[in-house]
Amino acid sequence: MKDENMKILVIGSGGREHTLAKECAKSPLVGQVMVTPGNGGINREFTSFAVGVEDNRGIVSLALDENIDLVVVGPEVPLCNGLVDDLKAVGILAYGPDAAGAQLEGSKAYTKDFLAKYSVPTAAYGNFSEVAPALQYLEGCQPPVVVKASGLAAGKGVLICENLQEARAAVEDMLSGESFGESGKEVVIEEFLEGEEVSLHLICSGESYVAMPMSQDHKKVGEGDAGLNTGGMGAYAPTSLVTPGMLARYEEEIVKPTLAGLKAEGVDFRGTLYIGLMLTENGAKVLEFNVRFGDPETQVILPLLANDLVELLLKSARGEPMPDQVAFKDESAMVVVLASHGYPGAYPKGEVITEPETPIADAVLIHAGTREKDGKVVTAGGRVLGAVGTGASLTAARDRAYELVEAVSYESKYFRSDIGHREFSRT
Ligand SMILES: Nc1ncnc2c1ncn2[C@@H]1O[C@H](COP(=O)(O)OP(=O)(O)OP(=O)(O)O)[C@@H](O)[C@H]1O
Ligand SMILES: [Mg+2]
Repeated sequence: MKDENMKILVIGSGGREHTLAKECAKSPLVGQVMVTPGNGGINREFTSFAVGVEDNRGIVSLALDENIDLVVVGPEVPLCNGLVDDLKAVGILAYGPDAAGAQLEGSKAYTKDFLAKYSVPTAAYGNFSEVAPALQYLEGCQPPVVVKASGLAAGKGVLICENLQEARAAVEDMLSGESFGESGKEVVIEEFLEGEEVSLHLICSGESYVAMPMSQDHKKVGEGDAGLNTGGMGAYAPTSLVTPGMLARYEEEIVKPTLAGLKAEGVDFRGTLYIGLMLTENGAKVLEFNVRFGDPETQVILPLLANDLVELLLKSARGEPMPDQVAFKDESAMVVVLASHGYPGAYPKGEVITEPETPIADAVLIHAGTREKDGKVVTAGGRVLGAVGTGASLTAARDRAYELVEAVSYESKYFRSDIGHREFSRT
């Protein structure tokens, strides 16, 4: 394959995938970007298909029919389902880890044992698939204590328990298979860590990698980080919490031992490794790994990349060494998520969305929970849109993002007005 006029197929339907499609389309190597299944905004901008993310066979035939040169997999579920393995088996290049690599996200119990084996700093823990030993372990824990369903749970499988009674109930509930099905049949009980949370995204090719700017997201639905957890109400990058010196240390203490450990386990890890870090008094500790780009973090990380994204994705997918030097713009980016009132609980759907008629400089509207209906774009999810602003400073990025937020309307529009507050209170 010559690296020009390439056809790329992005898998997914969220803000992450809209951003990936837009950024891939900017590459001089790319002729066409297609997406399946997409959303209301993606489908207006790119050729889209109706094949769902869990239909491996459908995606493989689509990629063959359309002569796709590179498949870029957005979400974790198809990665854990072995989509990349299935594509490889028919000779199609795909960005993302194979099923063996995806275990780092698909099994929290596997990951904790892996981290312990390779001495990567993380919270003290125990893995359990039986109730009695889990309850016994809890007797030796100091609350608060964290109880996690080991398998994929769409961001809902983690409970921070204020007392042991709550923790016991969480363990029994998960192991019974009642609330999390198969994903809860094994649980991780973990020490509660205190500190600031940051995310580090790496584009990996075995032991070689490129580190993207550090970002911070806002999981809580309410202002001042109050209320229920969500998929993310906003994010920004870079964060001043992590200096270049600190990053260099995390690379030595966390990144390199992790990638070397994967190699030792026989895993040739290709794709995104998202490292969720807690910056504690005793140094940075791994909270979790994800094996795909974060959503909404993608929306603020990729616009800061000065290199060609597709060139990096190709190197990773092919298992070639990543470049030693990658350039990032000397800018900041912020995404403010536009949600529906009621989210993460019940919320209305089908409301017509009005977008600004003239573009706003340095601002981009990313679609997430939207769909087309009778020629109009309507709301179709809890997180509807992402308003992304970029600028020379985080303040400038914020001003652009919120200018766009104000210019968008639909009846149940809800957003947090304090995205980036931690950074602004520091600087
Ligand atoms: N040991 C811990 N101490 C304190 N807080 C924790 C701990 N583990 C998890 N958390 C909190 O719970 C959140 C979710 O945990 P985790 O990242 O393991 O779950 P997840 O469902 O995989 O999340 P994501 O949807 O981001 O992939 C973390 O972002 C963090 O805020
Ligand atoms: Mg996770």
